[in-house]
Amino acid sequence: MSLLIKNAVIVNADGEKKASQDILIKGSTIEKIGKDLSADGVKVVDASGKKVLPGFIDLHCHLREPGQEHKETIETGCRAAVKGGFTSLFCMPNTRPPIDNGMIVEGVIKEARRVGLANVYPVGAISKGQNSQEMVDMYEMKAAGCLALSDDGKAVNNSQLMLLALRYADMVGLLLMEHCQDPLISGKGVMNEGLTASVLGMRGDPGVSETVIVGRDIELANYVQARIHLSHISLKRSCELIRFAKSQGVRVTAEACPHHFTLTDEAVKGFDPNTKVNPPLRTADDVEAIKAALADGTLDCVSTDHAPHTLEDKEEGFDHAPFGISGFETAFGLCVTHLVRTKVLTLAGLVDKMCQSPARIAGLKNKGRIEEGADADLVIVDTEAEWEVRKEDFVSKGKNSPFFGWKLHGLVEKTICGGKVVFER
Ligand code: DOR
Ligand code: ZN
Repeated sequence: MSLLIKNAVIVNADGEKKASQDILIKGSTIEKIGKDLSADGVKVVDASGKKVLPGFIDLHCHLREPGQEHKETIETGCRAAVKGGFTSLFCMPNTRPPIDNGMIVEGVIKEARRVGLANVYPVGAISKGQNSQEMVDMYEMKAAGCLALSDDGKAVNNSQLMLLALRYADMVGLLLMEHCQDPLISGKGVMNEGLTASVLGMRGDPGVSETVIVGRDIELANYVQARIHLSHISLKRSCELIRFAKSQGVRVTAEACPHHFTLTDEAVKGFDPNTKVNPPLRTADDVEAIKAALADGTLDCVSTDHAPHTLEDKEEGFDHAPFGISGFETAFGLCVTHLVRTKVLTLAGLVDKMCQSPARIAGLKNKGRIEEGADADLVIVDTEAEWEVRKEDFVSKGKNSPFFGWKLHGLVEKTICGGKVVFER
């Protein structure tokens, strides 16, 4: 199966090509890029008036399989992902049971291959049962196909275990990712601690629950000279710590999610459980700092933290509802509208955050760039198109979005993964 994309304005992380070109795909590889290409017996896709970007790579999402298929399955999650332009997904291990052994890793990979829509990389747990007590067998996880480990959903609260895990992960060649939130400090907090929480009479989760883990992990990584990736950073203070660590040569990378640079804790005022997320929505000052940190490279990439829940789960009332936002289908629109159109990033800069940087961090050699020889994971987008986020249009089982009714710019028209058209509008 071959594909020829005509009239493509290609945008890579290092810039947008002035003139349009054609992209010839053979099998799952980009074979040739040039002017007026032609080939026999190929499917032709016309990209006139649109832009062609590398497929988005999400370092942080929840697909809920195994065990919580009522919230999402690998199949429904992948459908939502490719609709959002994502072709590579790192799915978190807080499934039931958790992804903490090779057999479950293999099961997820096998099911994702059967679905055949996107590249799915299961992120294994760091500790067995995600209990912060005993480390998983890292060799087994790596052999089964893991590229990264995290206890996401919660932090590794055992510092000694984290120290050992950093050492071992570096030896085995696995990336450790941290969910930065000290559980004993967060306690039963349901939103950001501060004025809004006080006014609403809600239990607050203070920002220091995040920064204490950010600071600890930076120190541990520095001590053992290992890599650490910090997930869904939400605070100005965290950005300051990461910026300082990077200036000192610590091997730290970090990401931000769209809800943390588009919403503040004031969004909780309507008591919409879809604004309940971990880490919580913060202040306007934090939102500005996250954007500045994306712009100056302190934050390396954008991830979704796609966390689907059922309406029934979310209707428990704000106090009891689970944390999480269904994020695949709004991520690109939120980034174009709130980062690119506001000139925080250029479109090429966004491609760095959503494609090239995550590929580099995860060690995906042939992804994140459109060039000859690279994997044929591409997305055709209309950056100008305006659309409204509507619940009826969500294909994820998770309809838990605080963005319904929002008008966004930037629409995914077609997604191509491994040379196959996996989504078209
Ligand atoms: O909001 C969140 N939801 N944050 C997390 O860390 C976990 C996630 C989930 O699994 O629902
Ligand atoms: Zn998390």
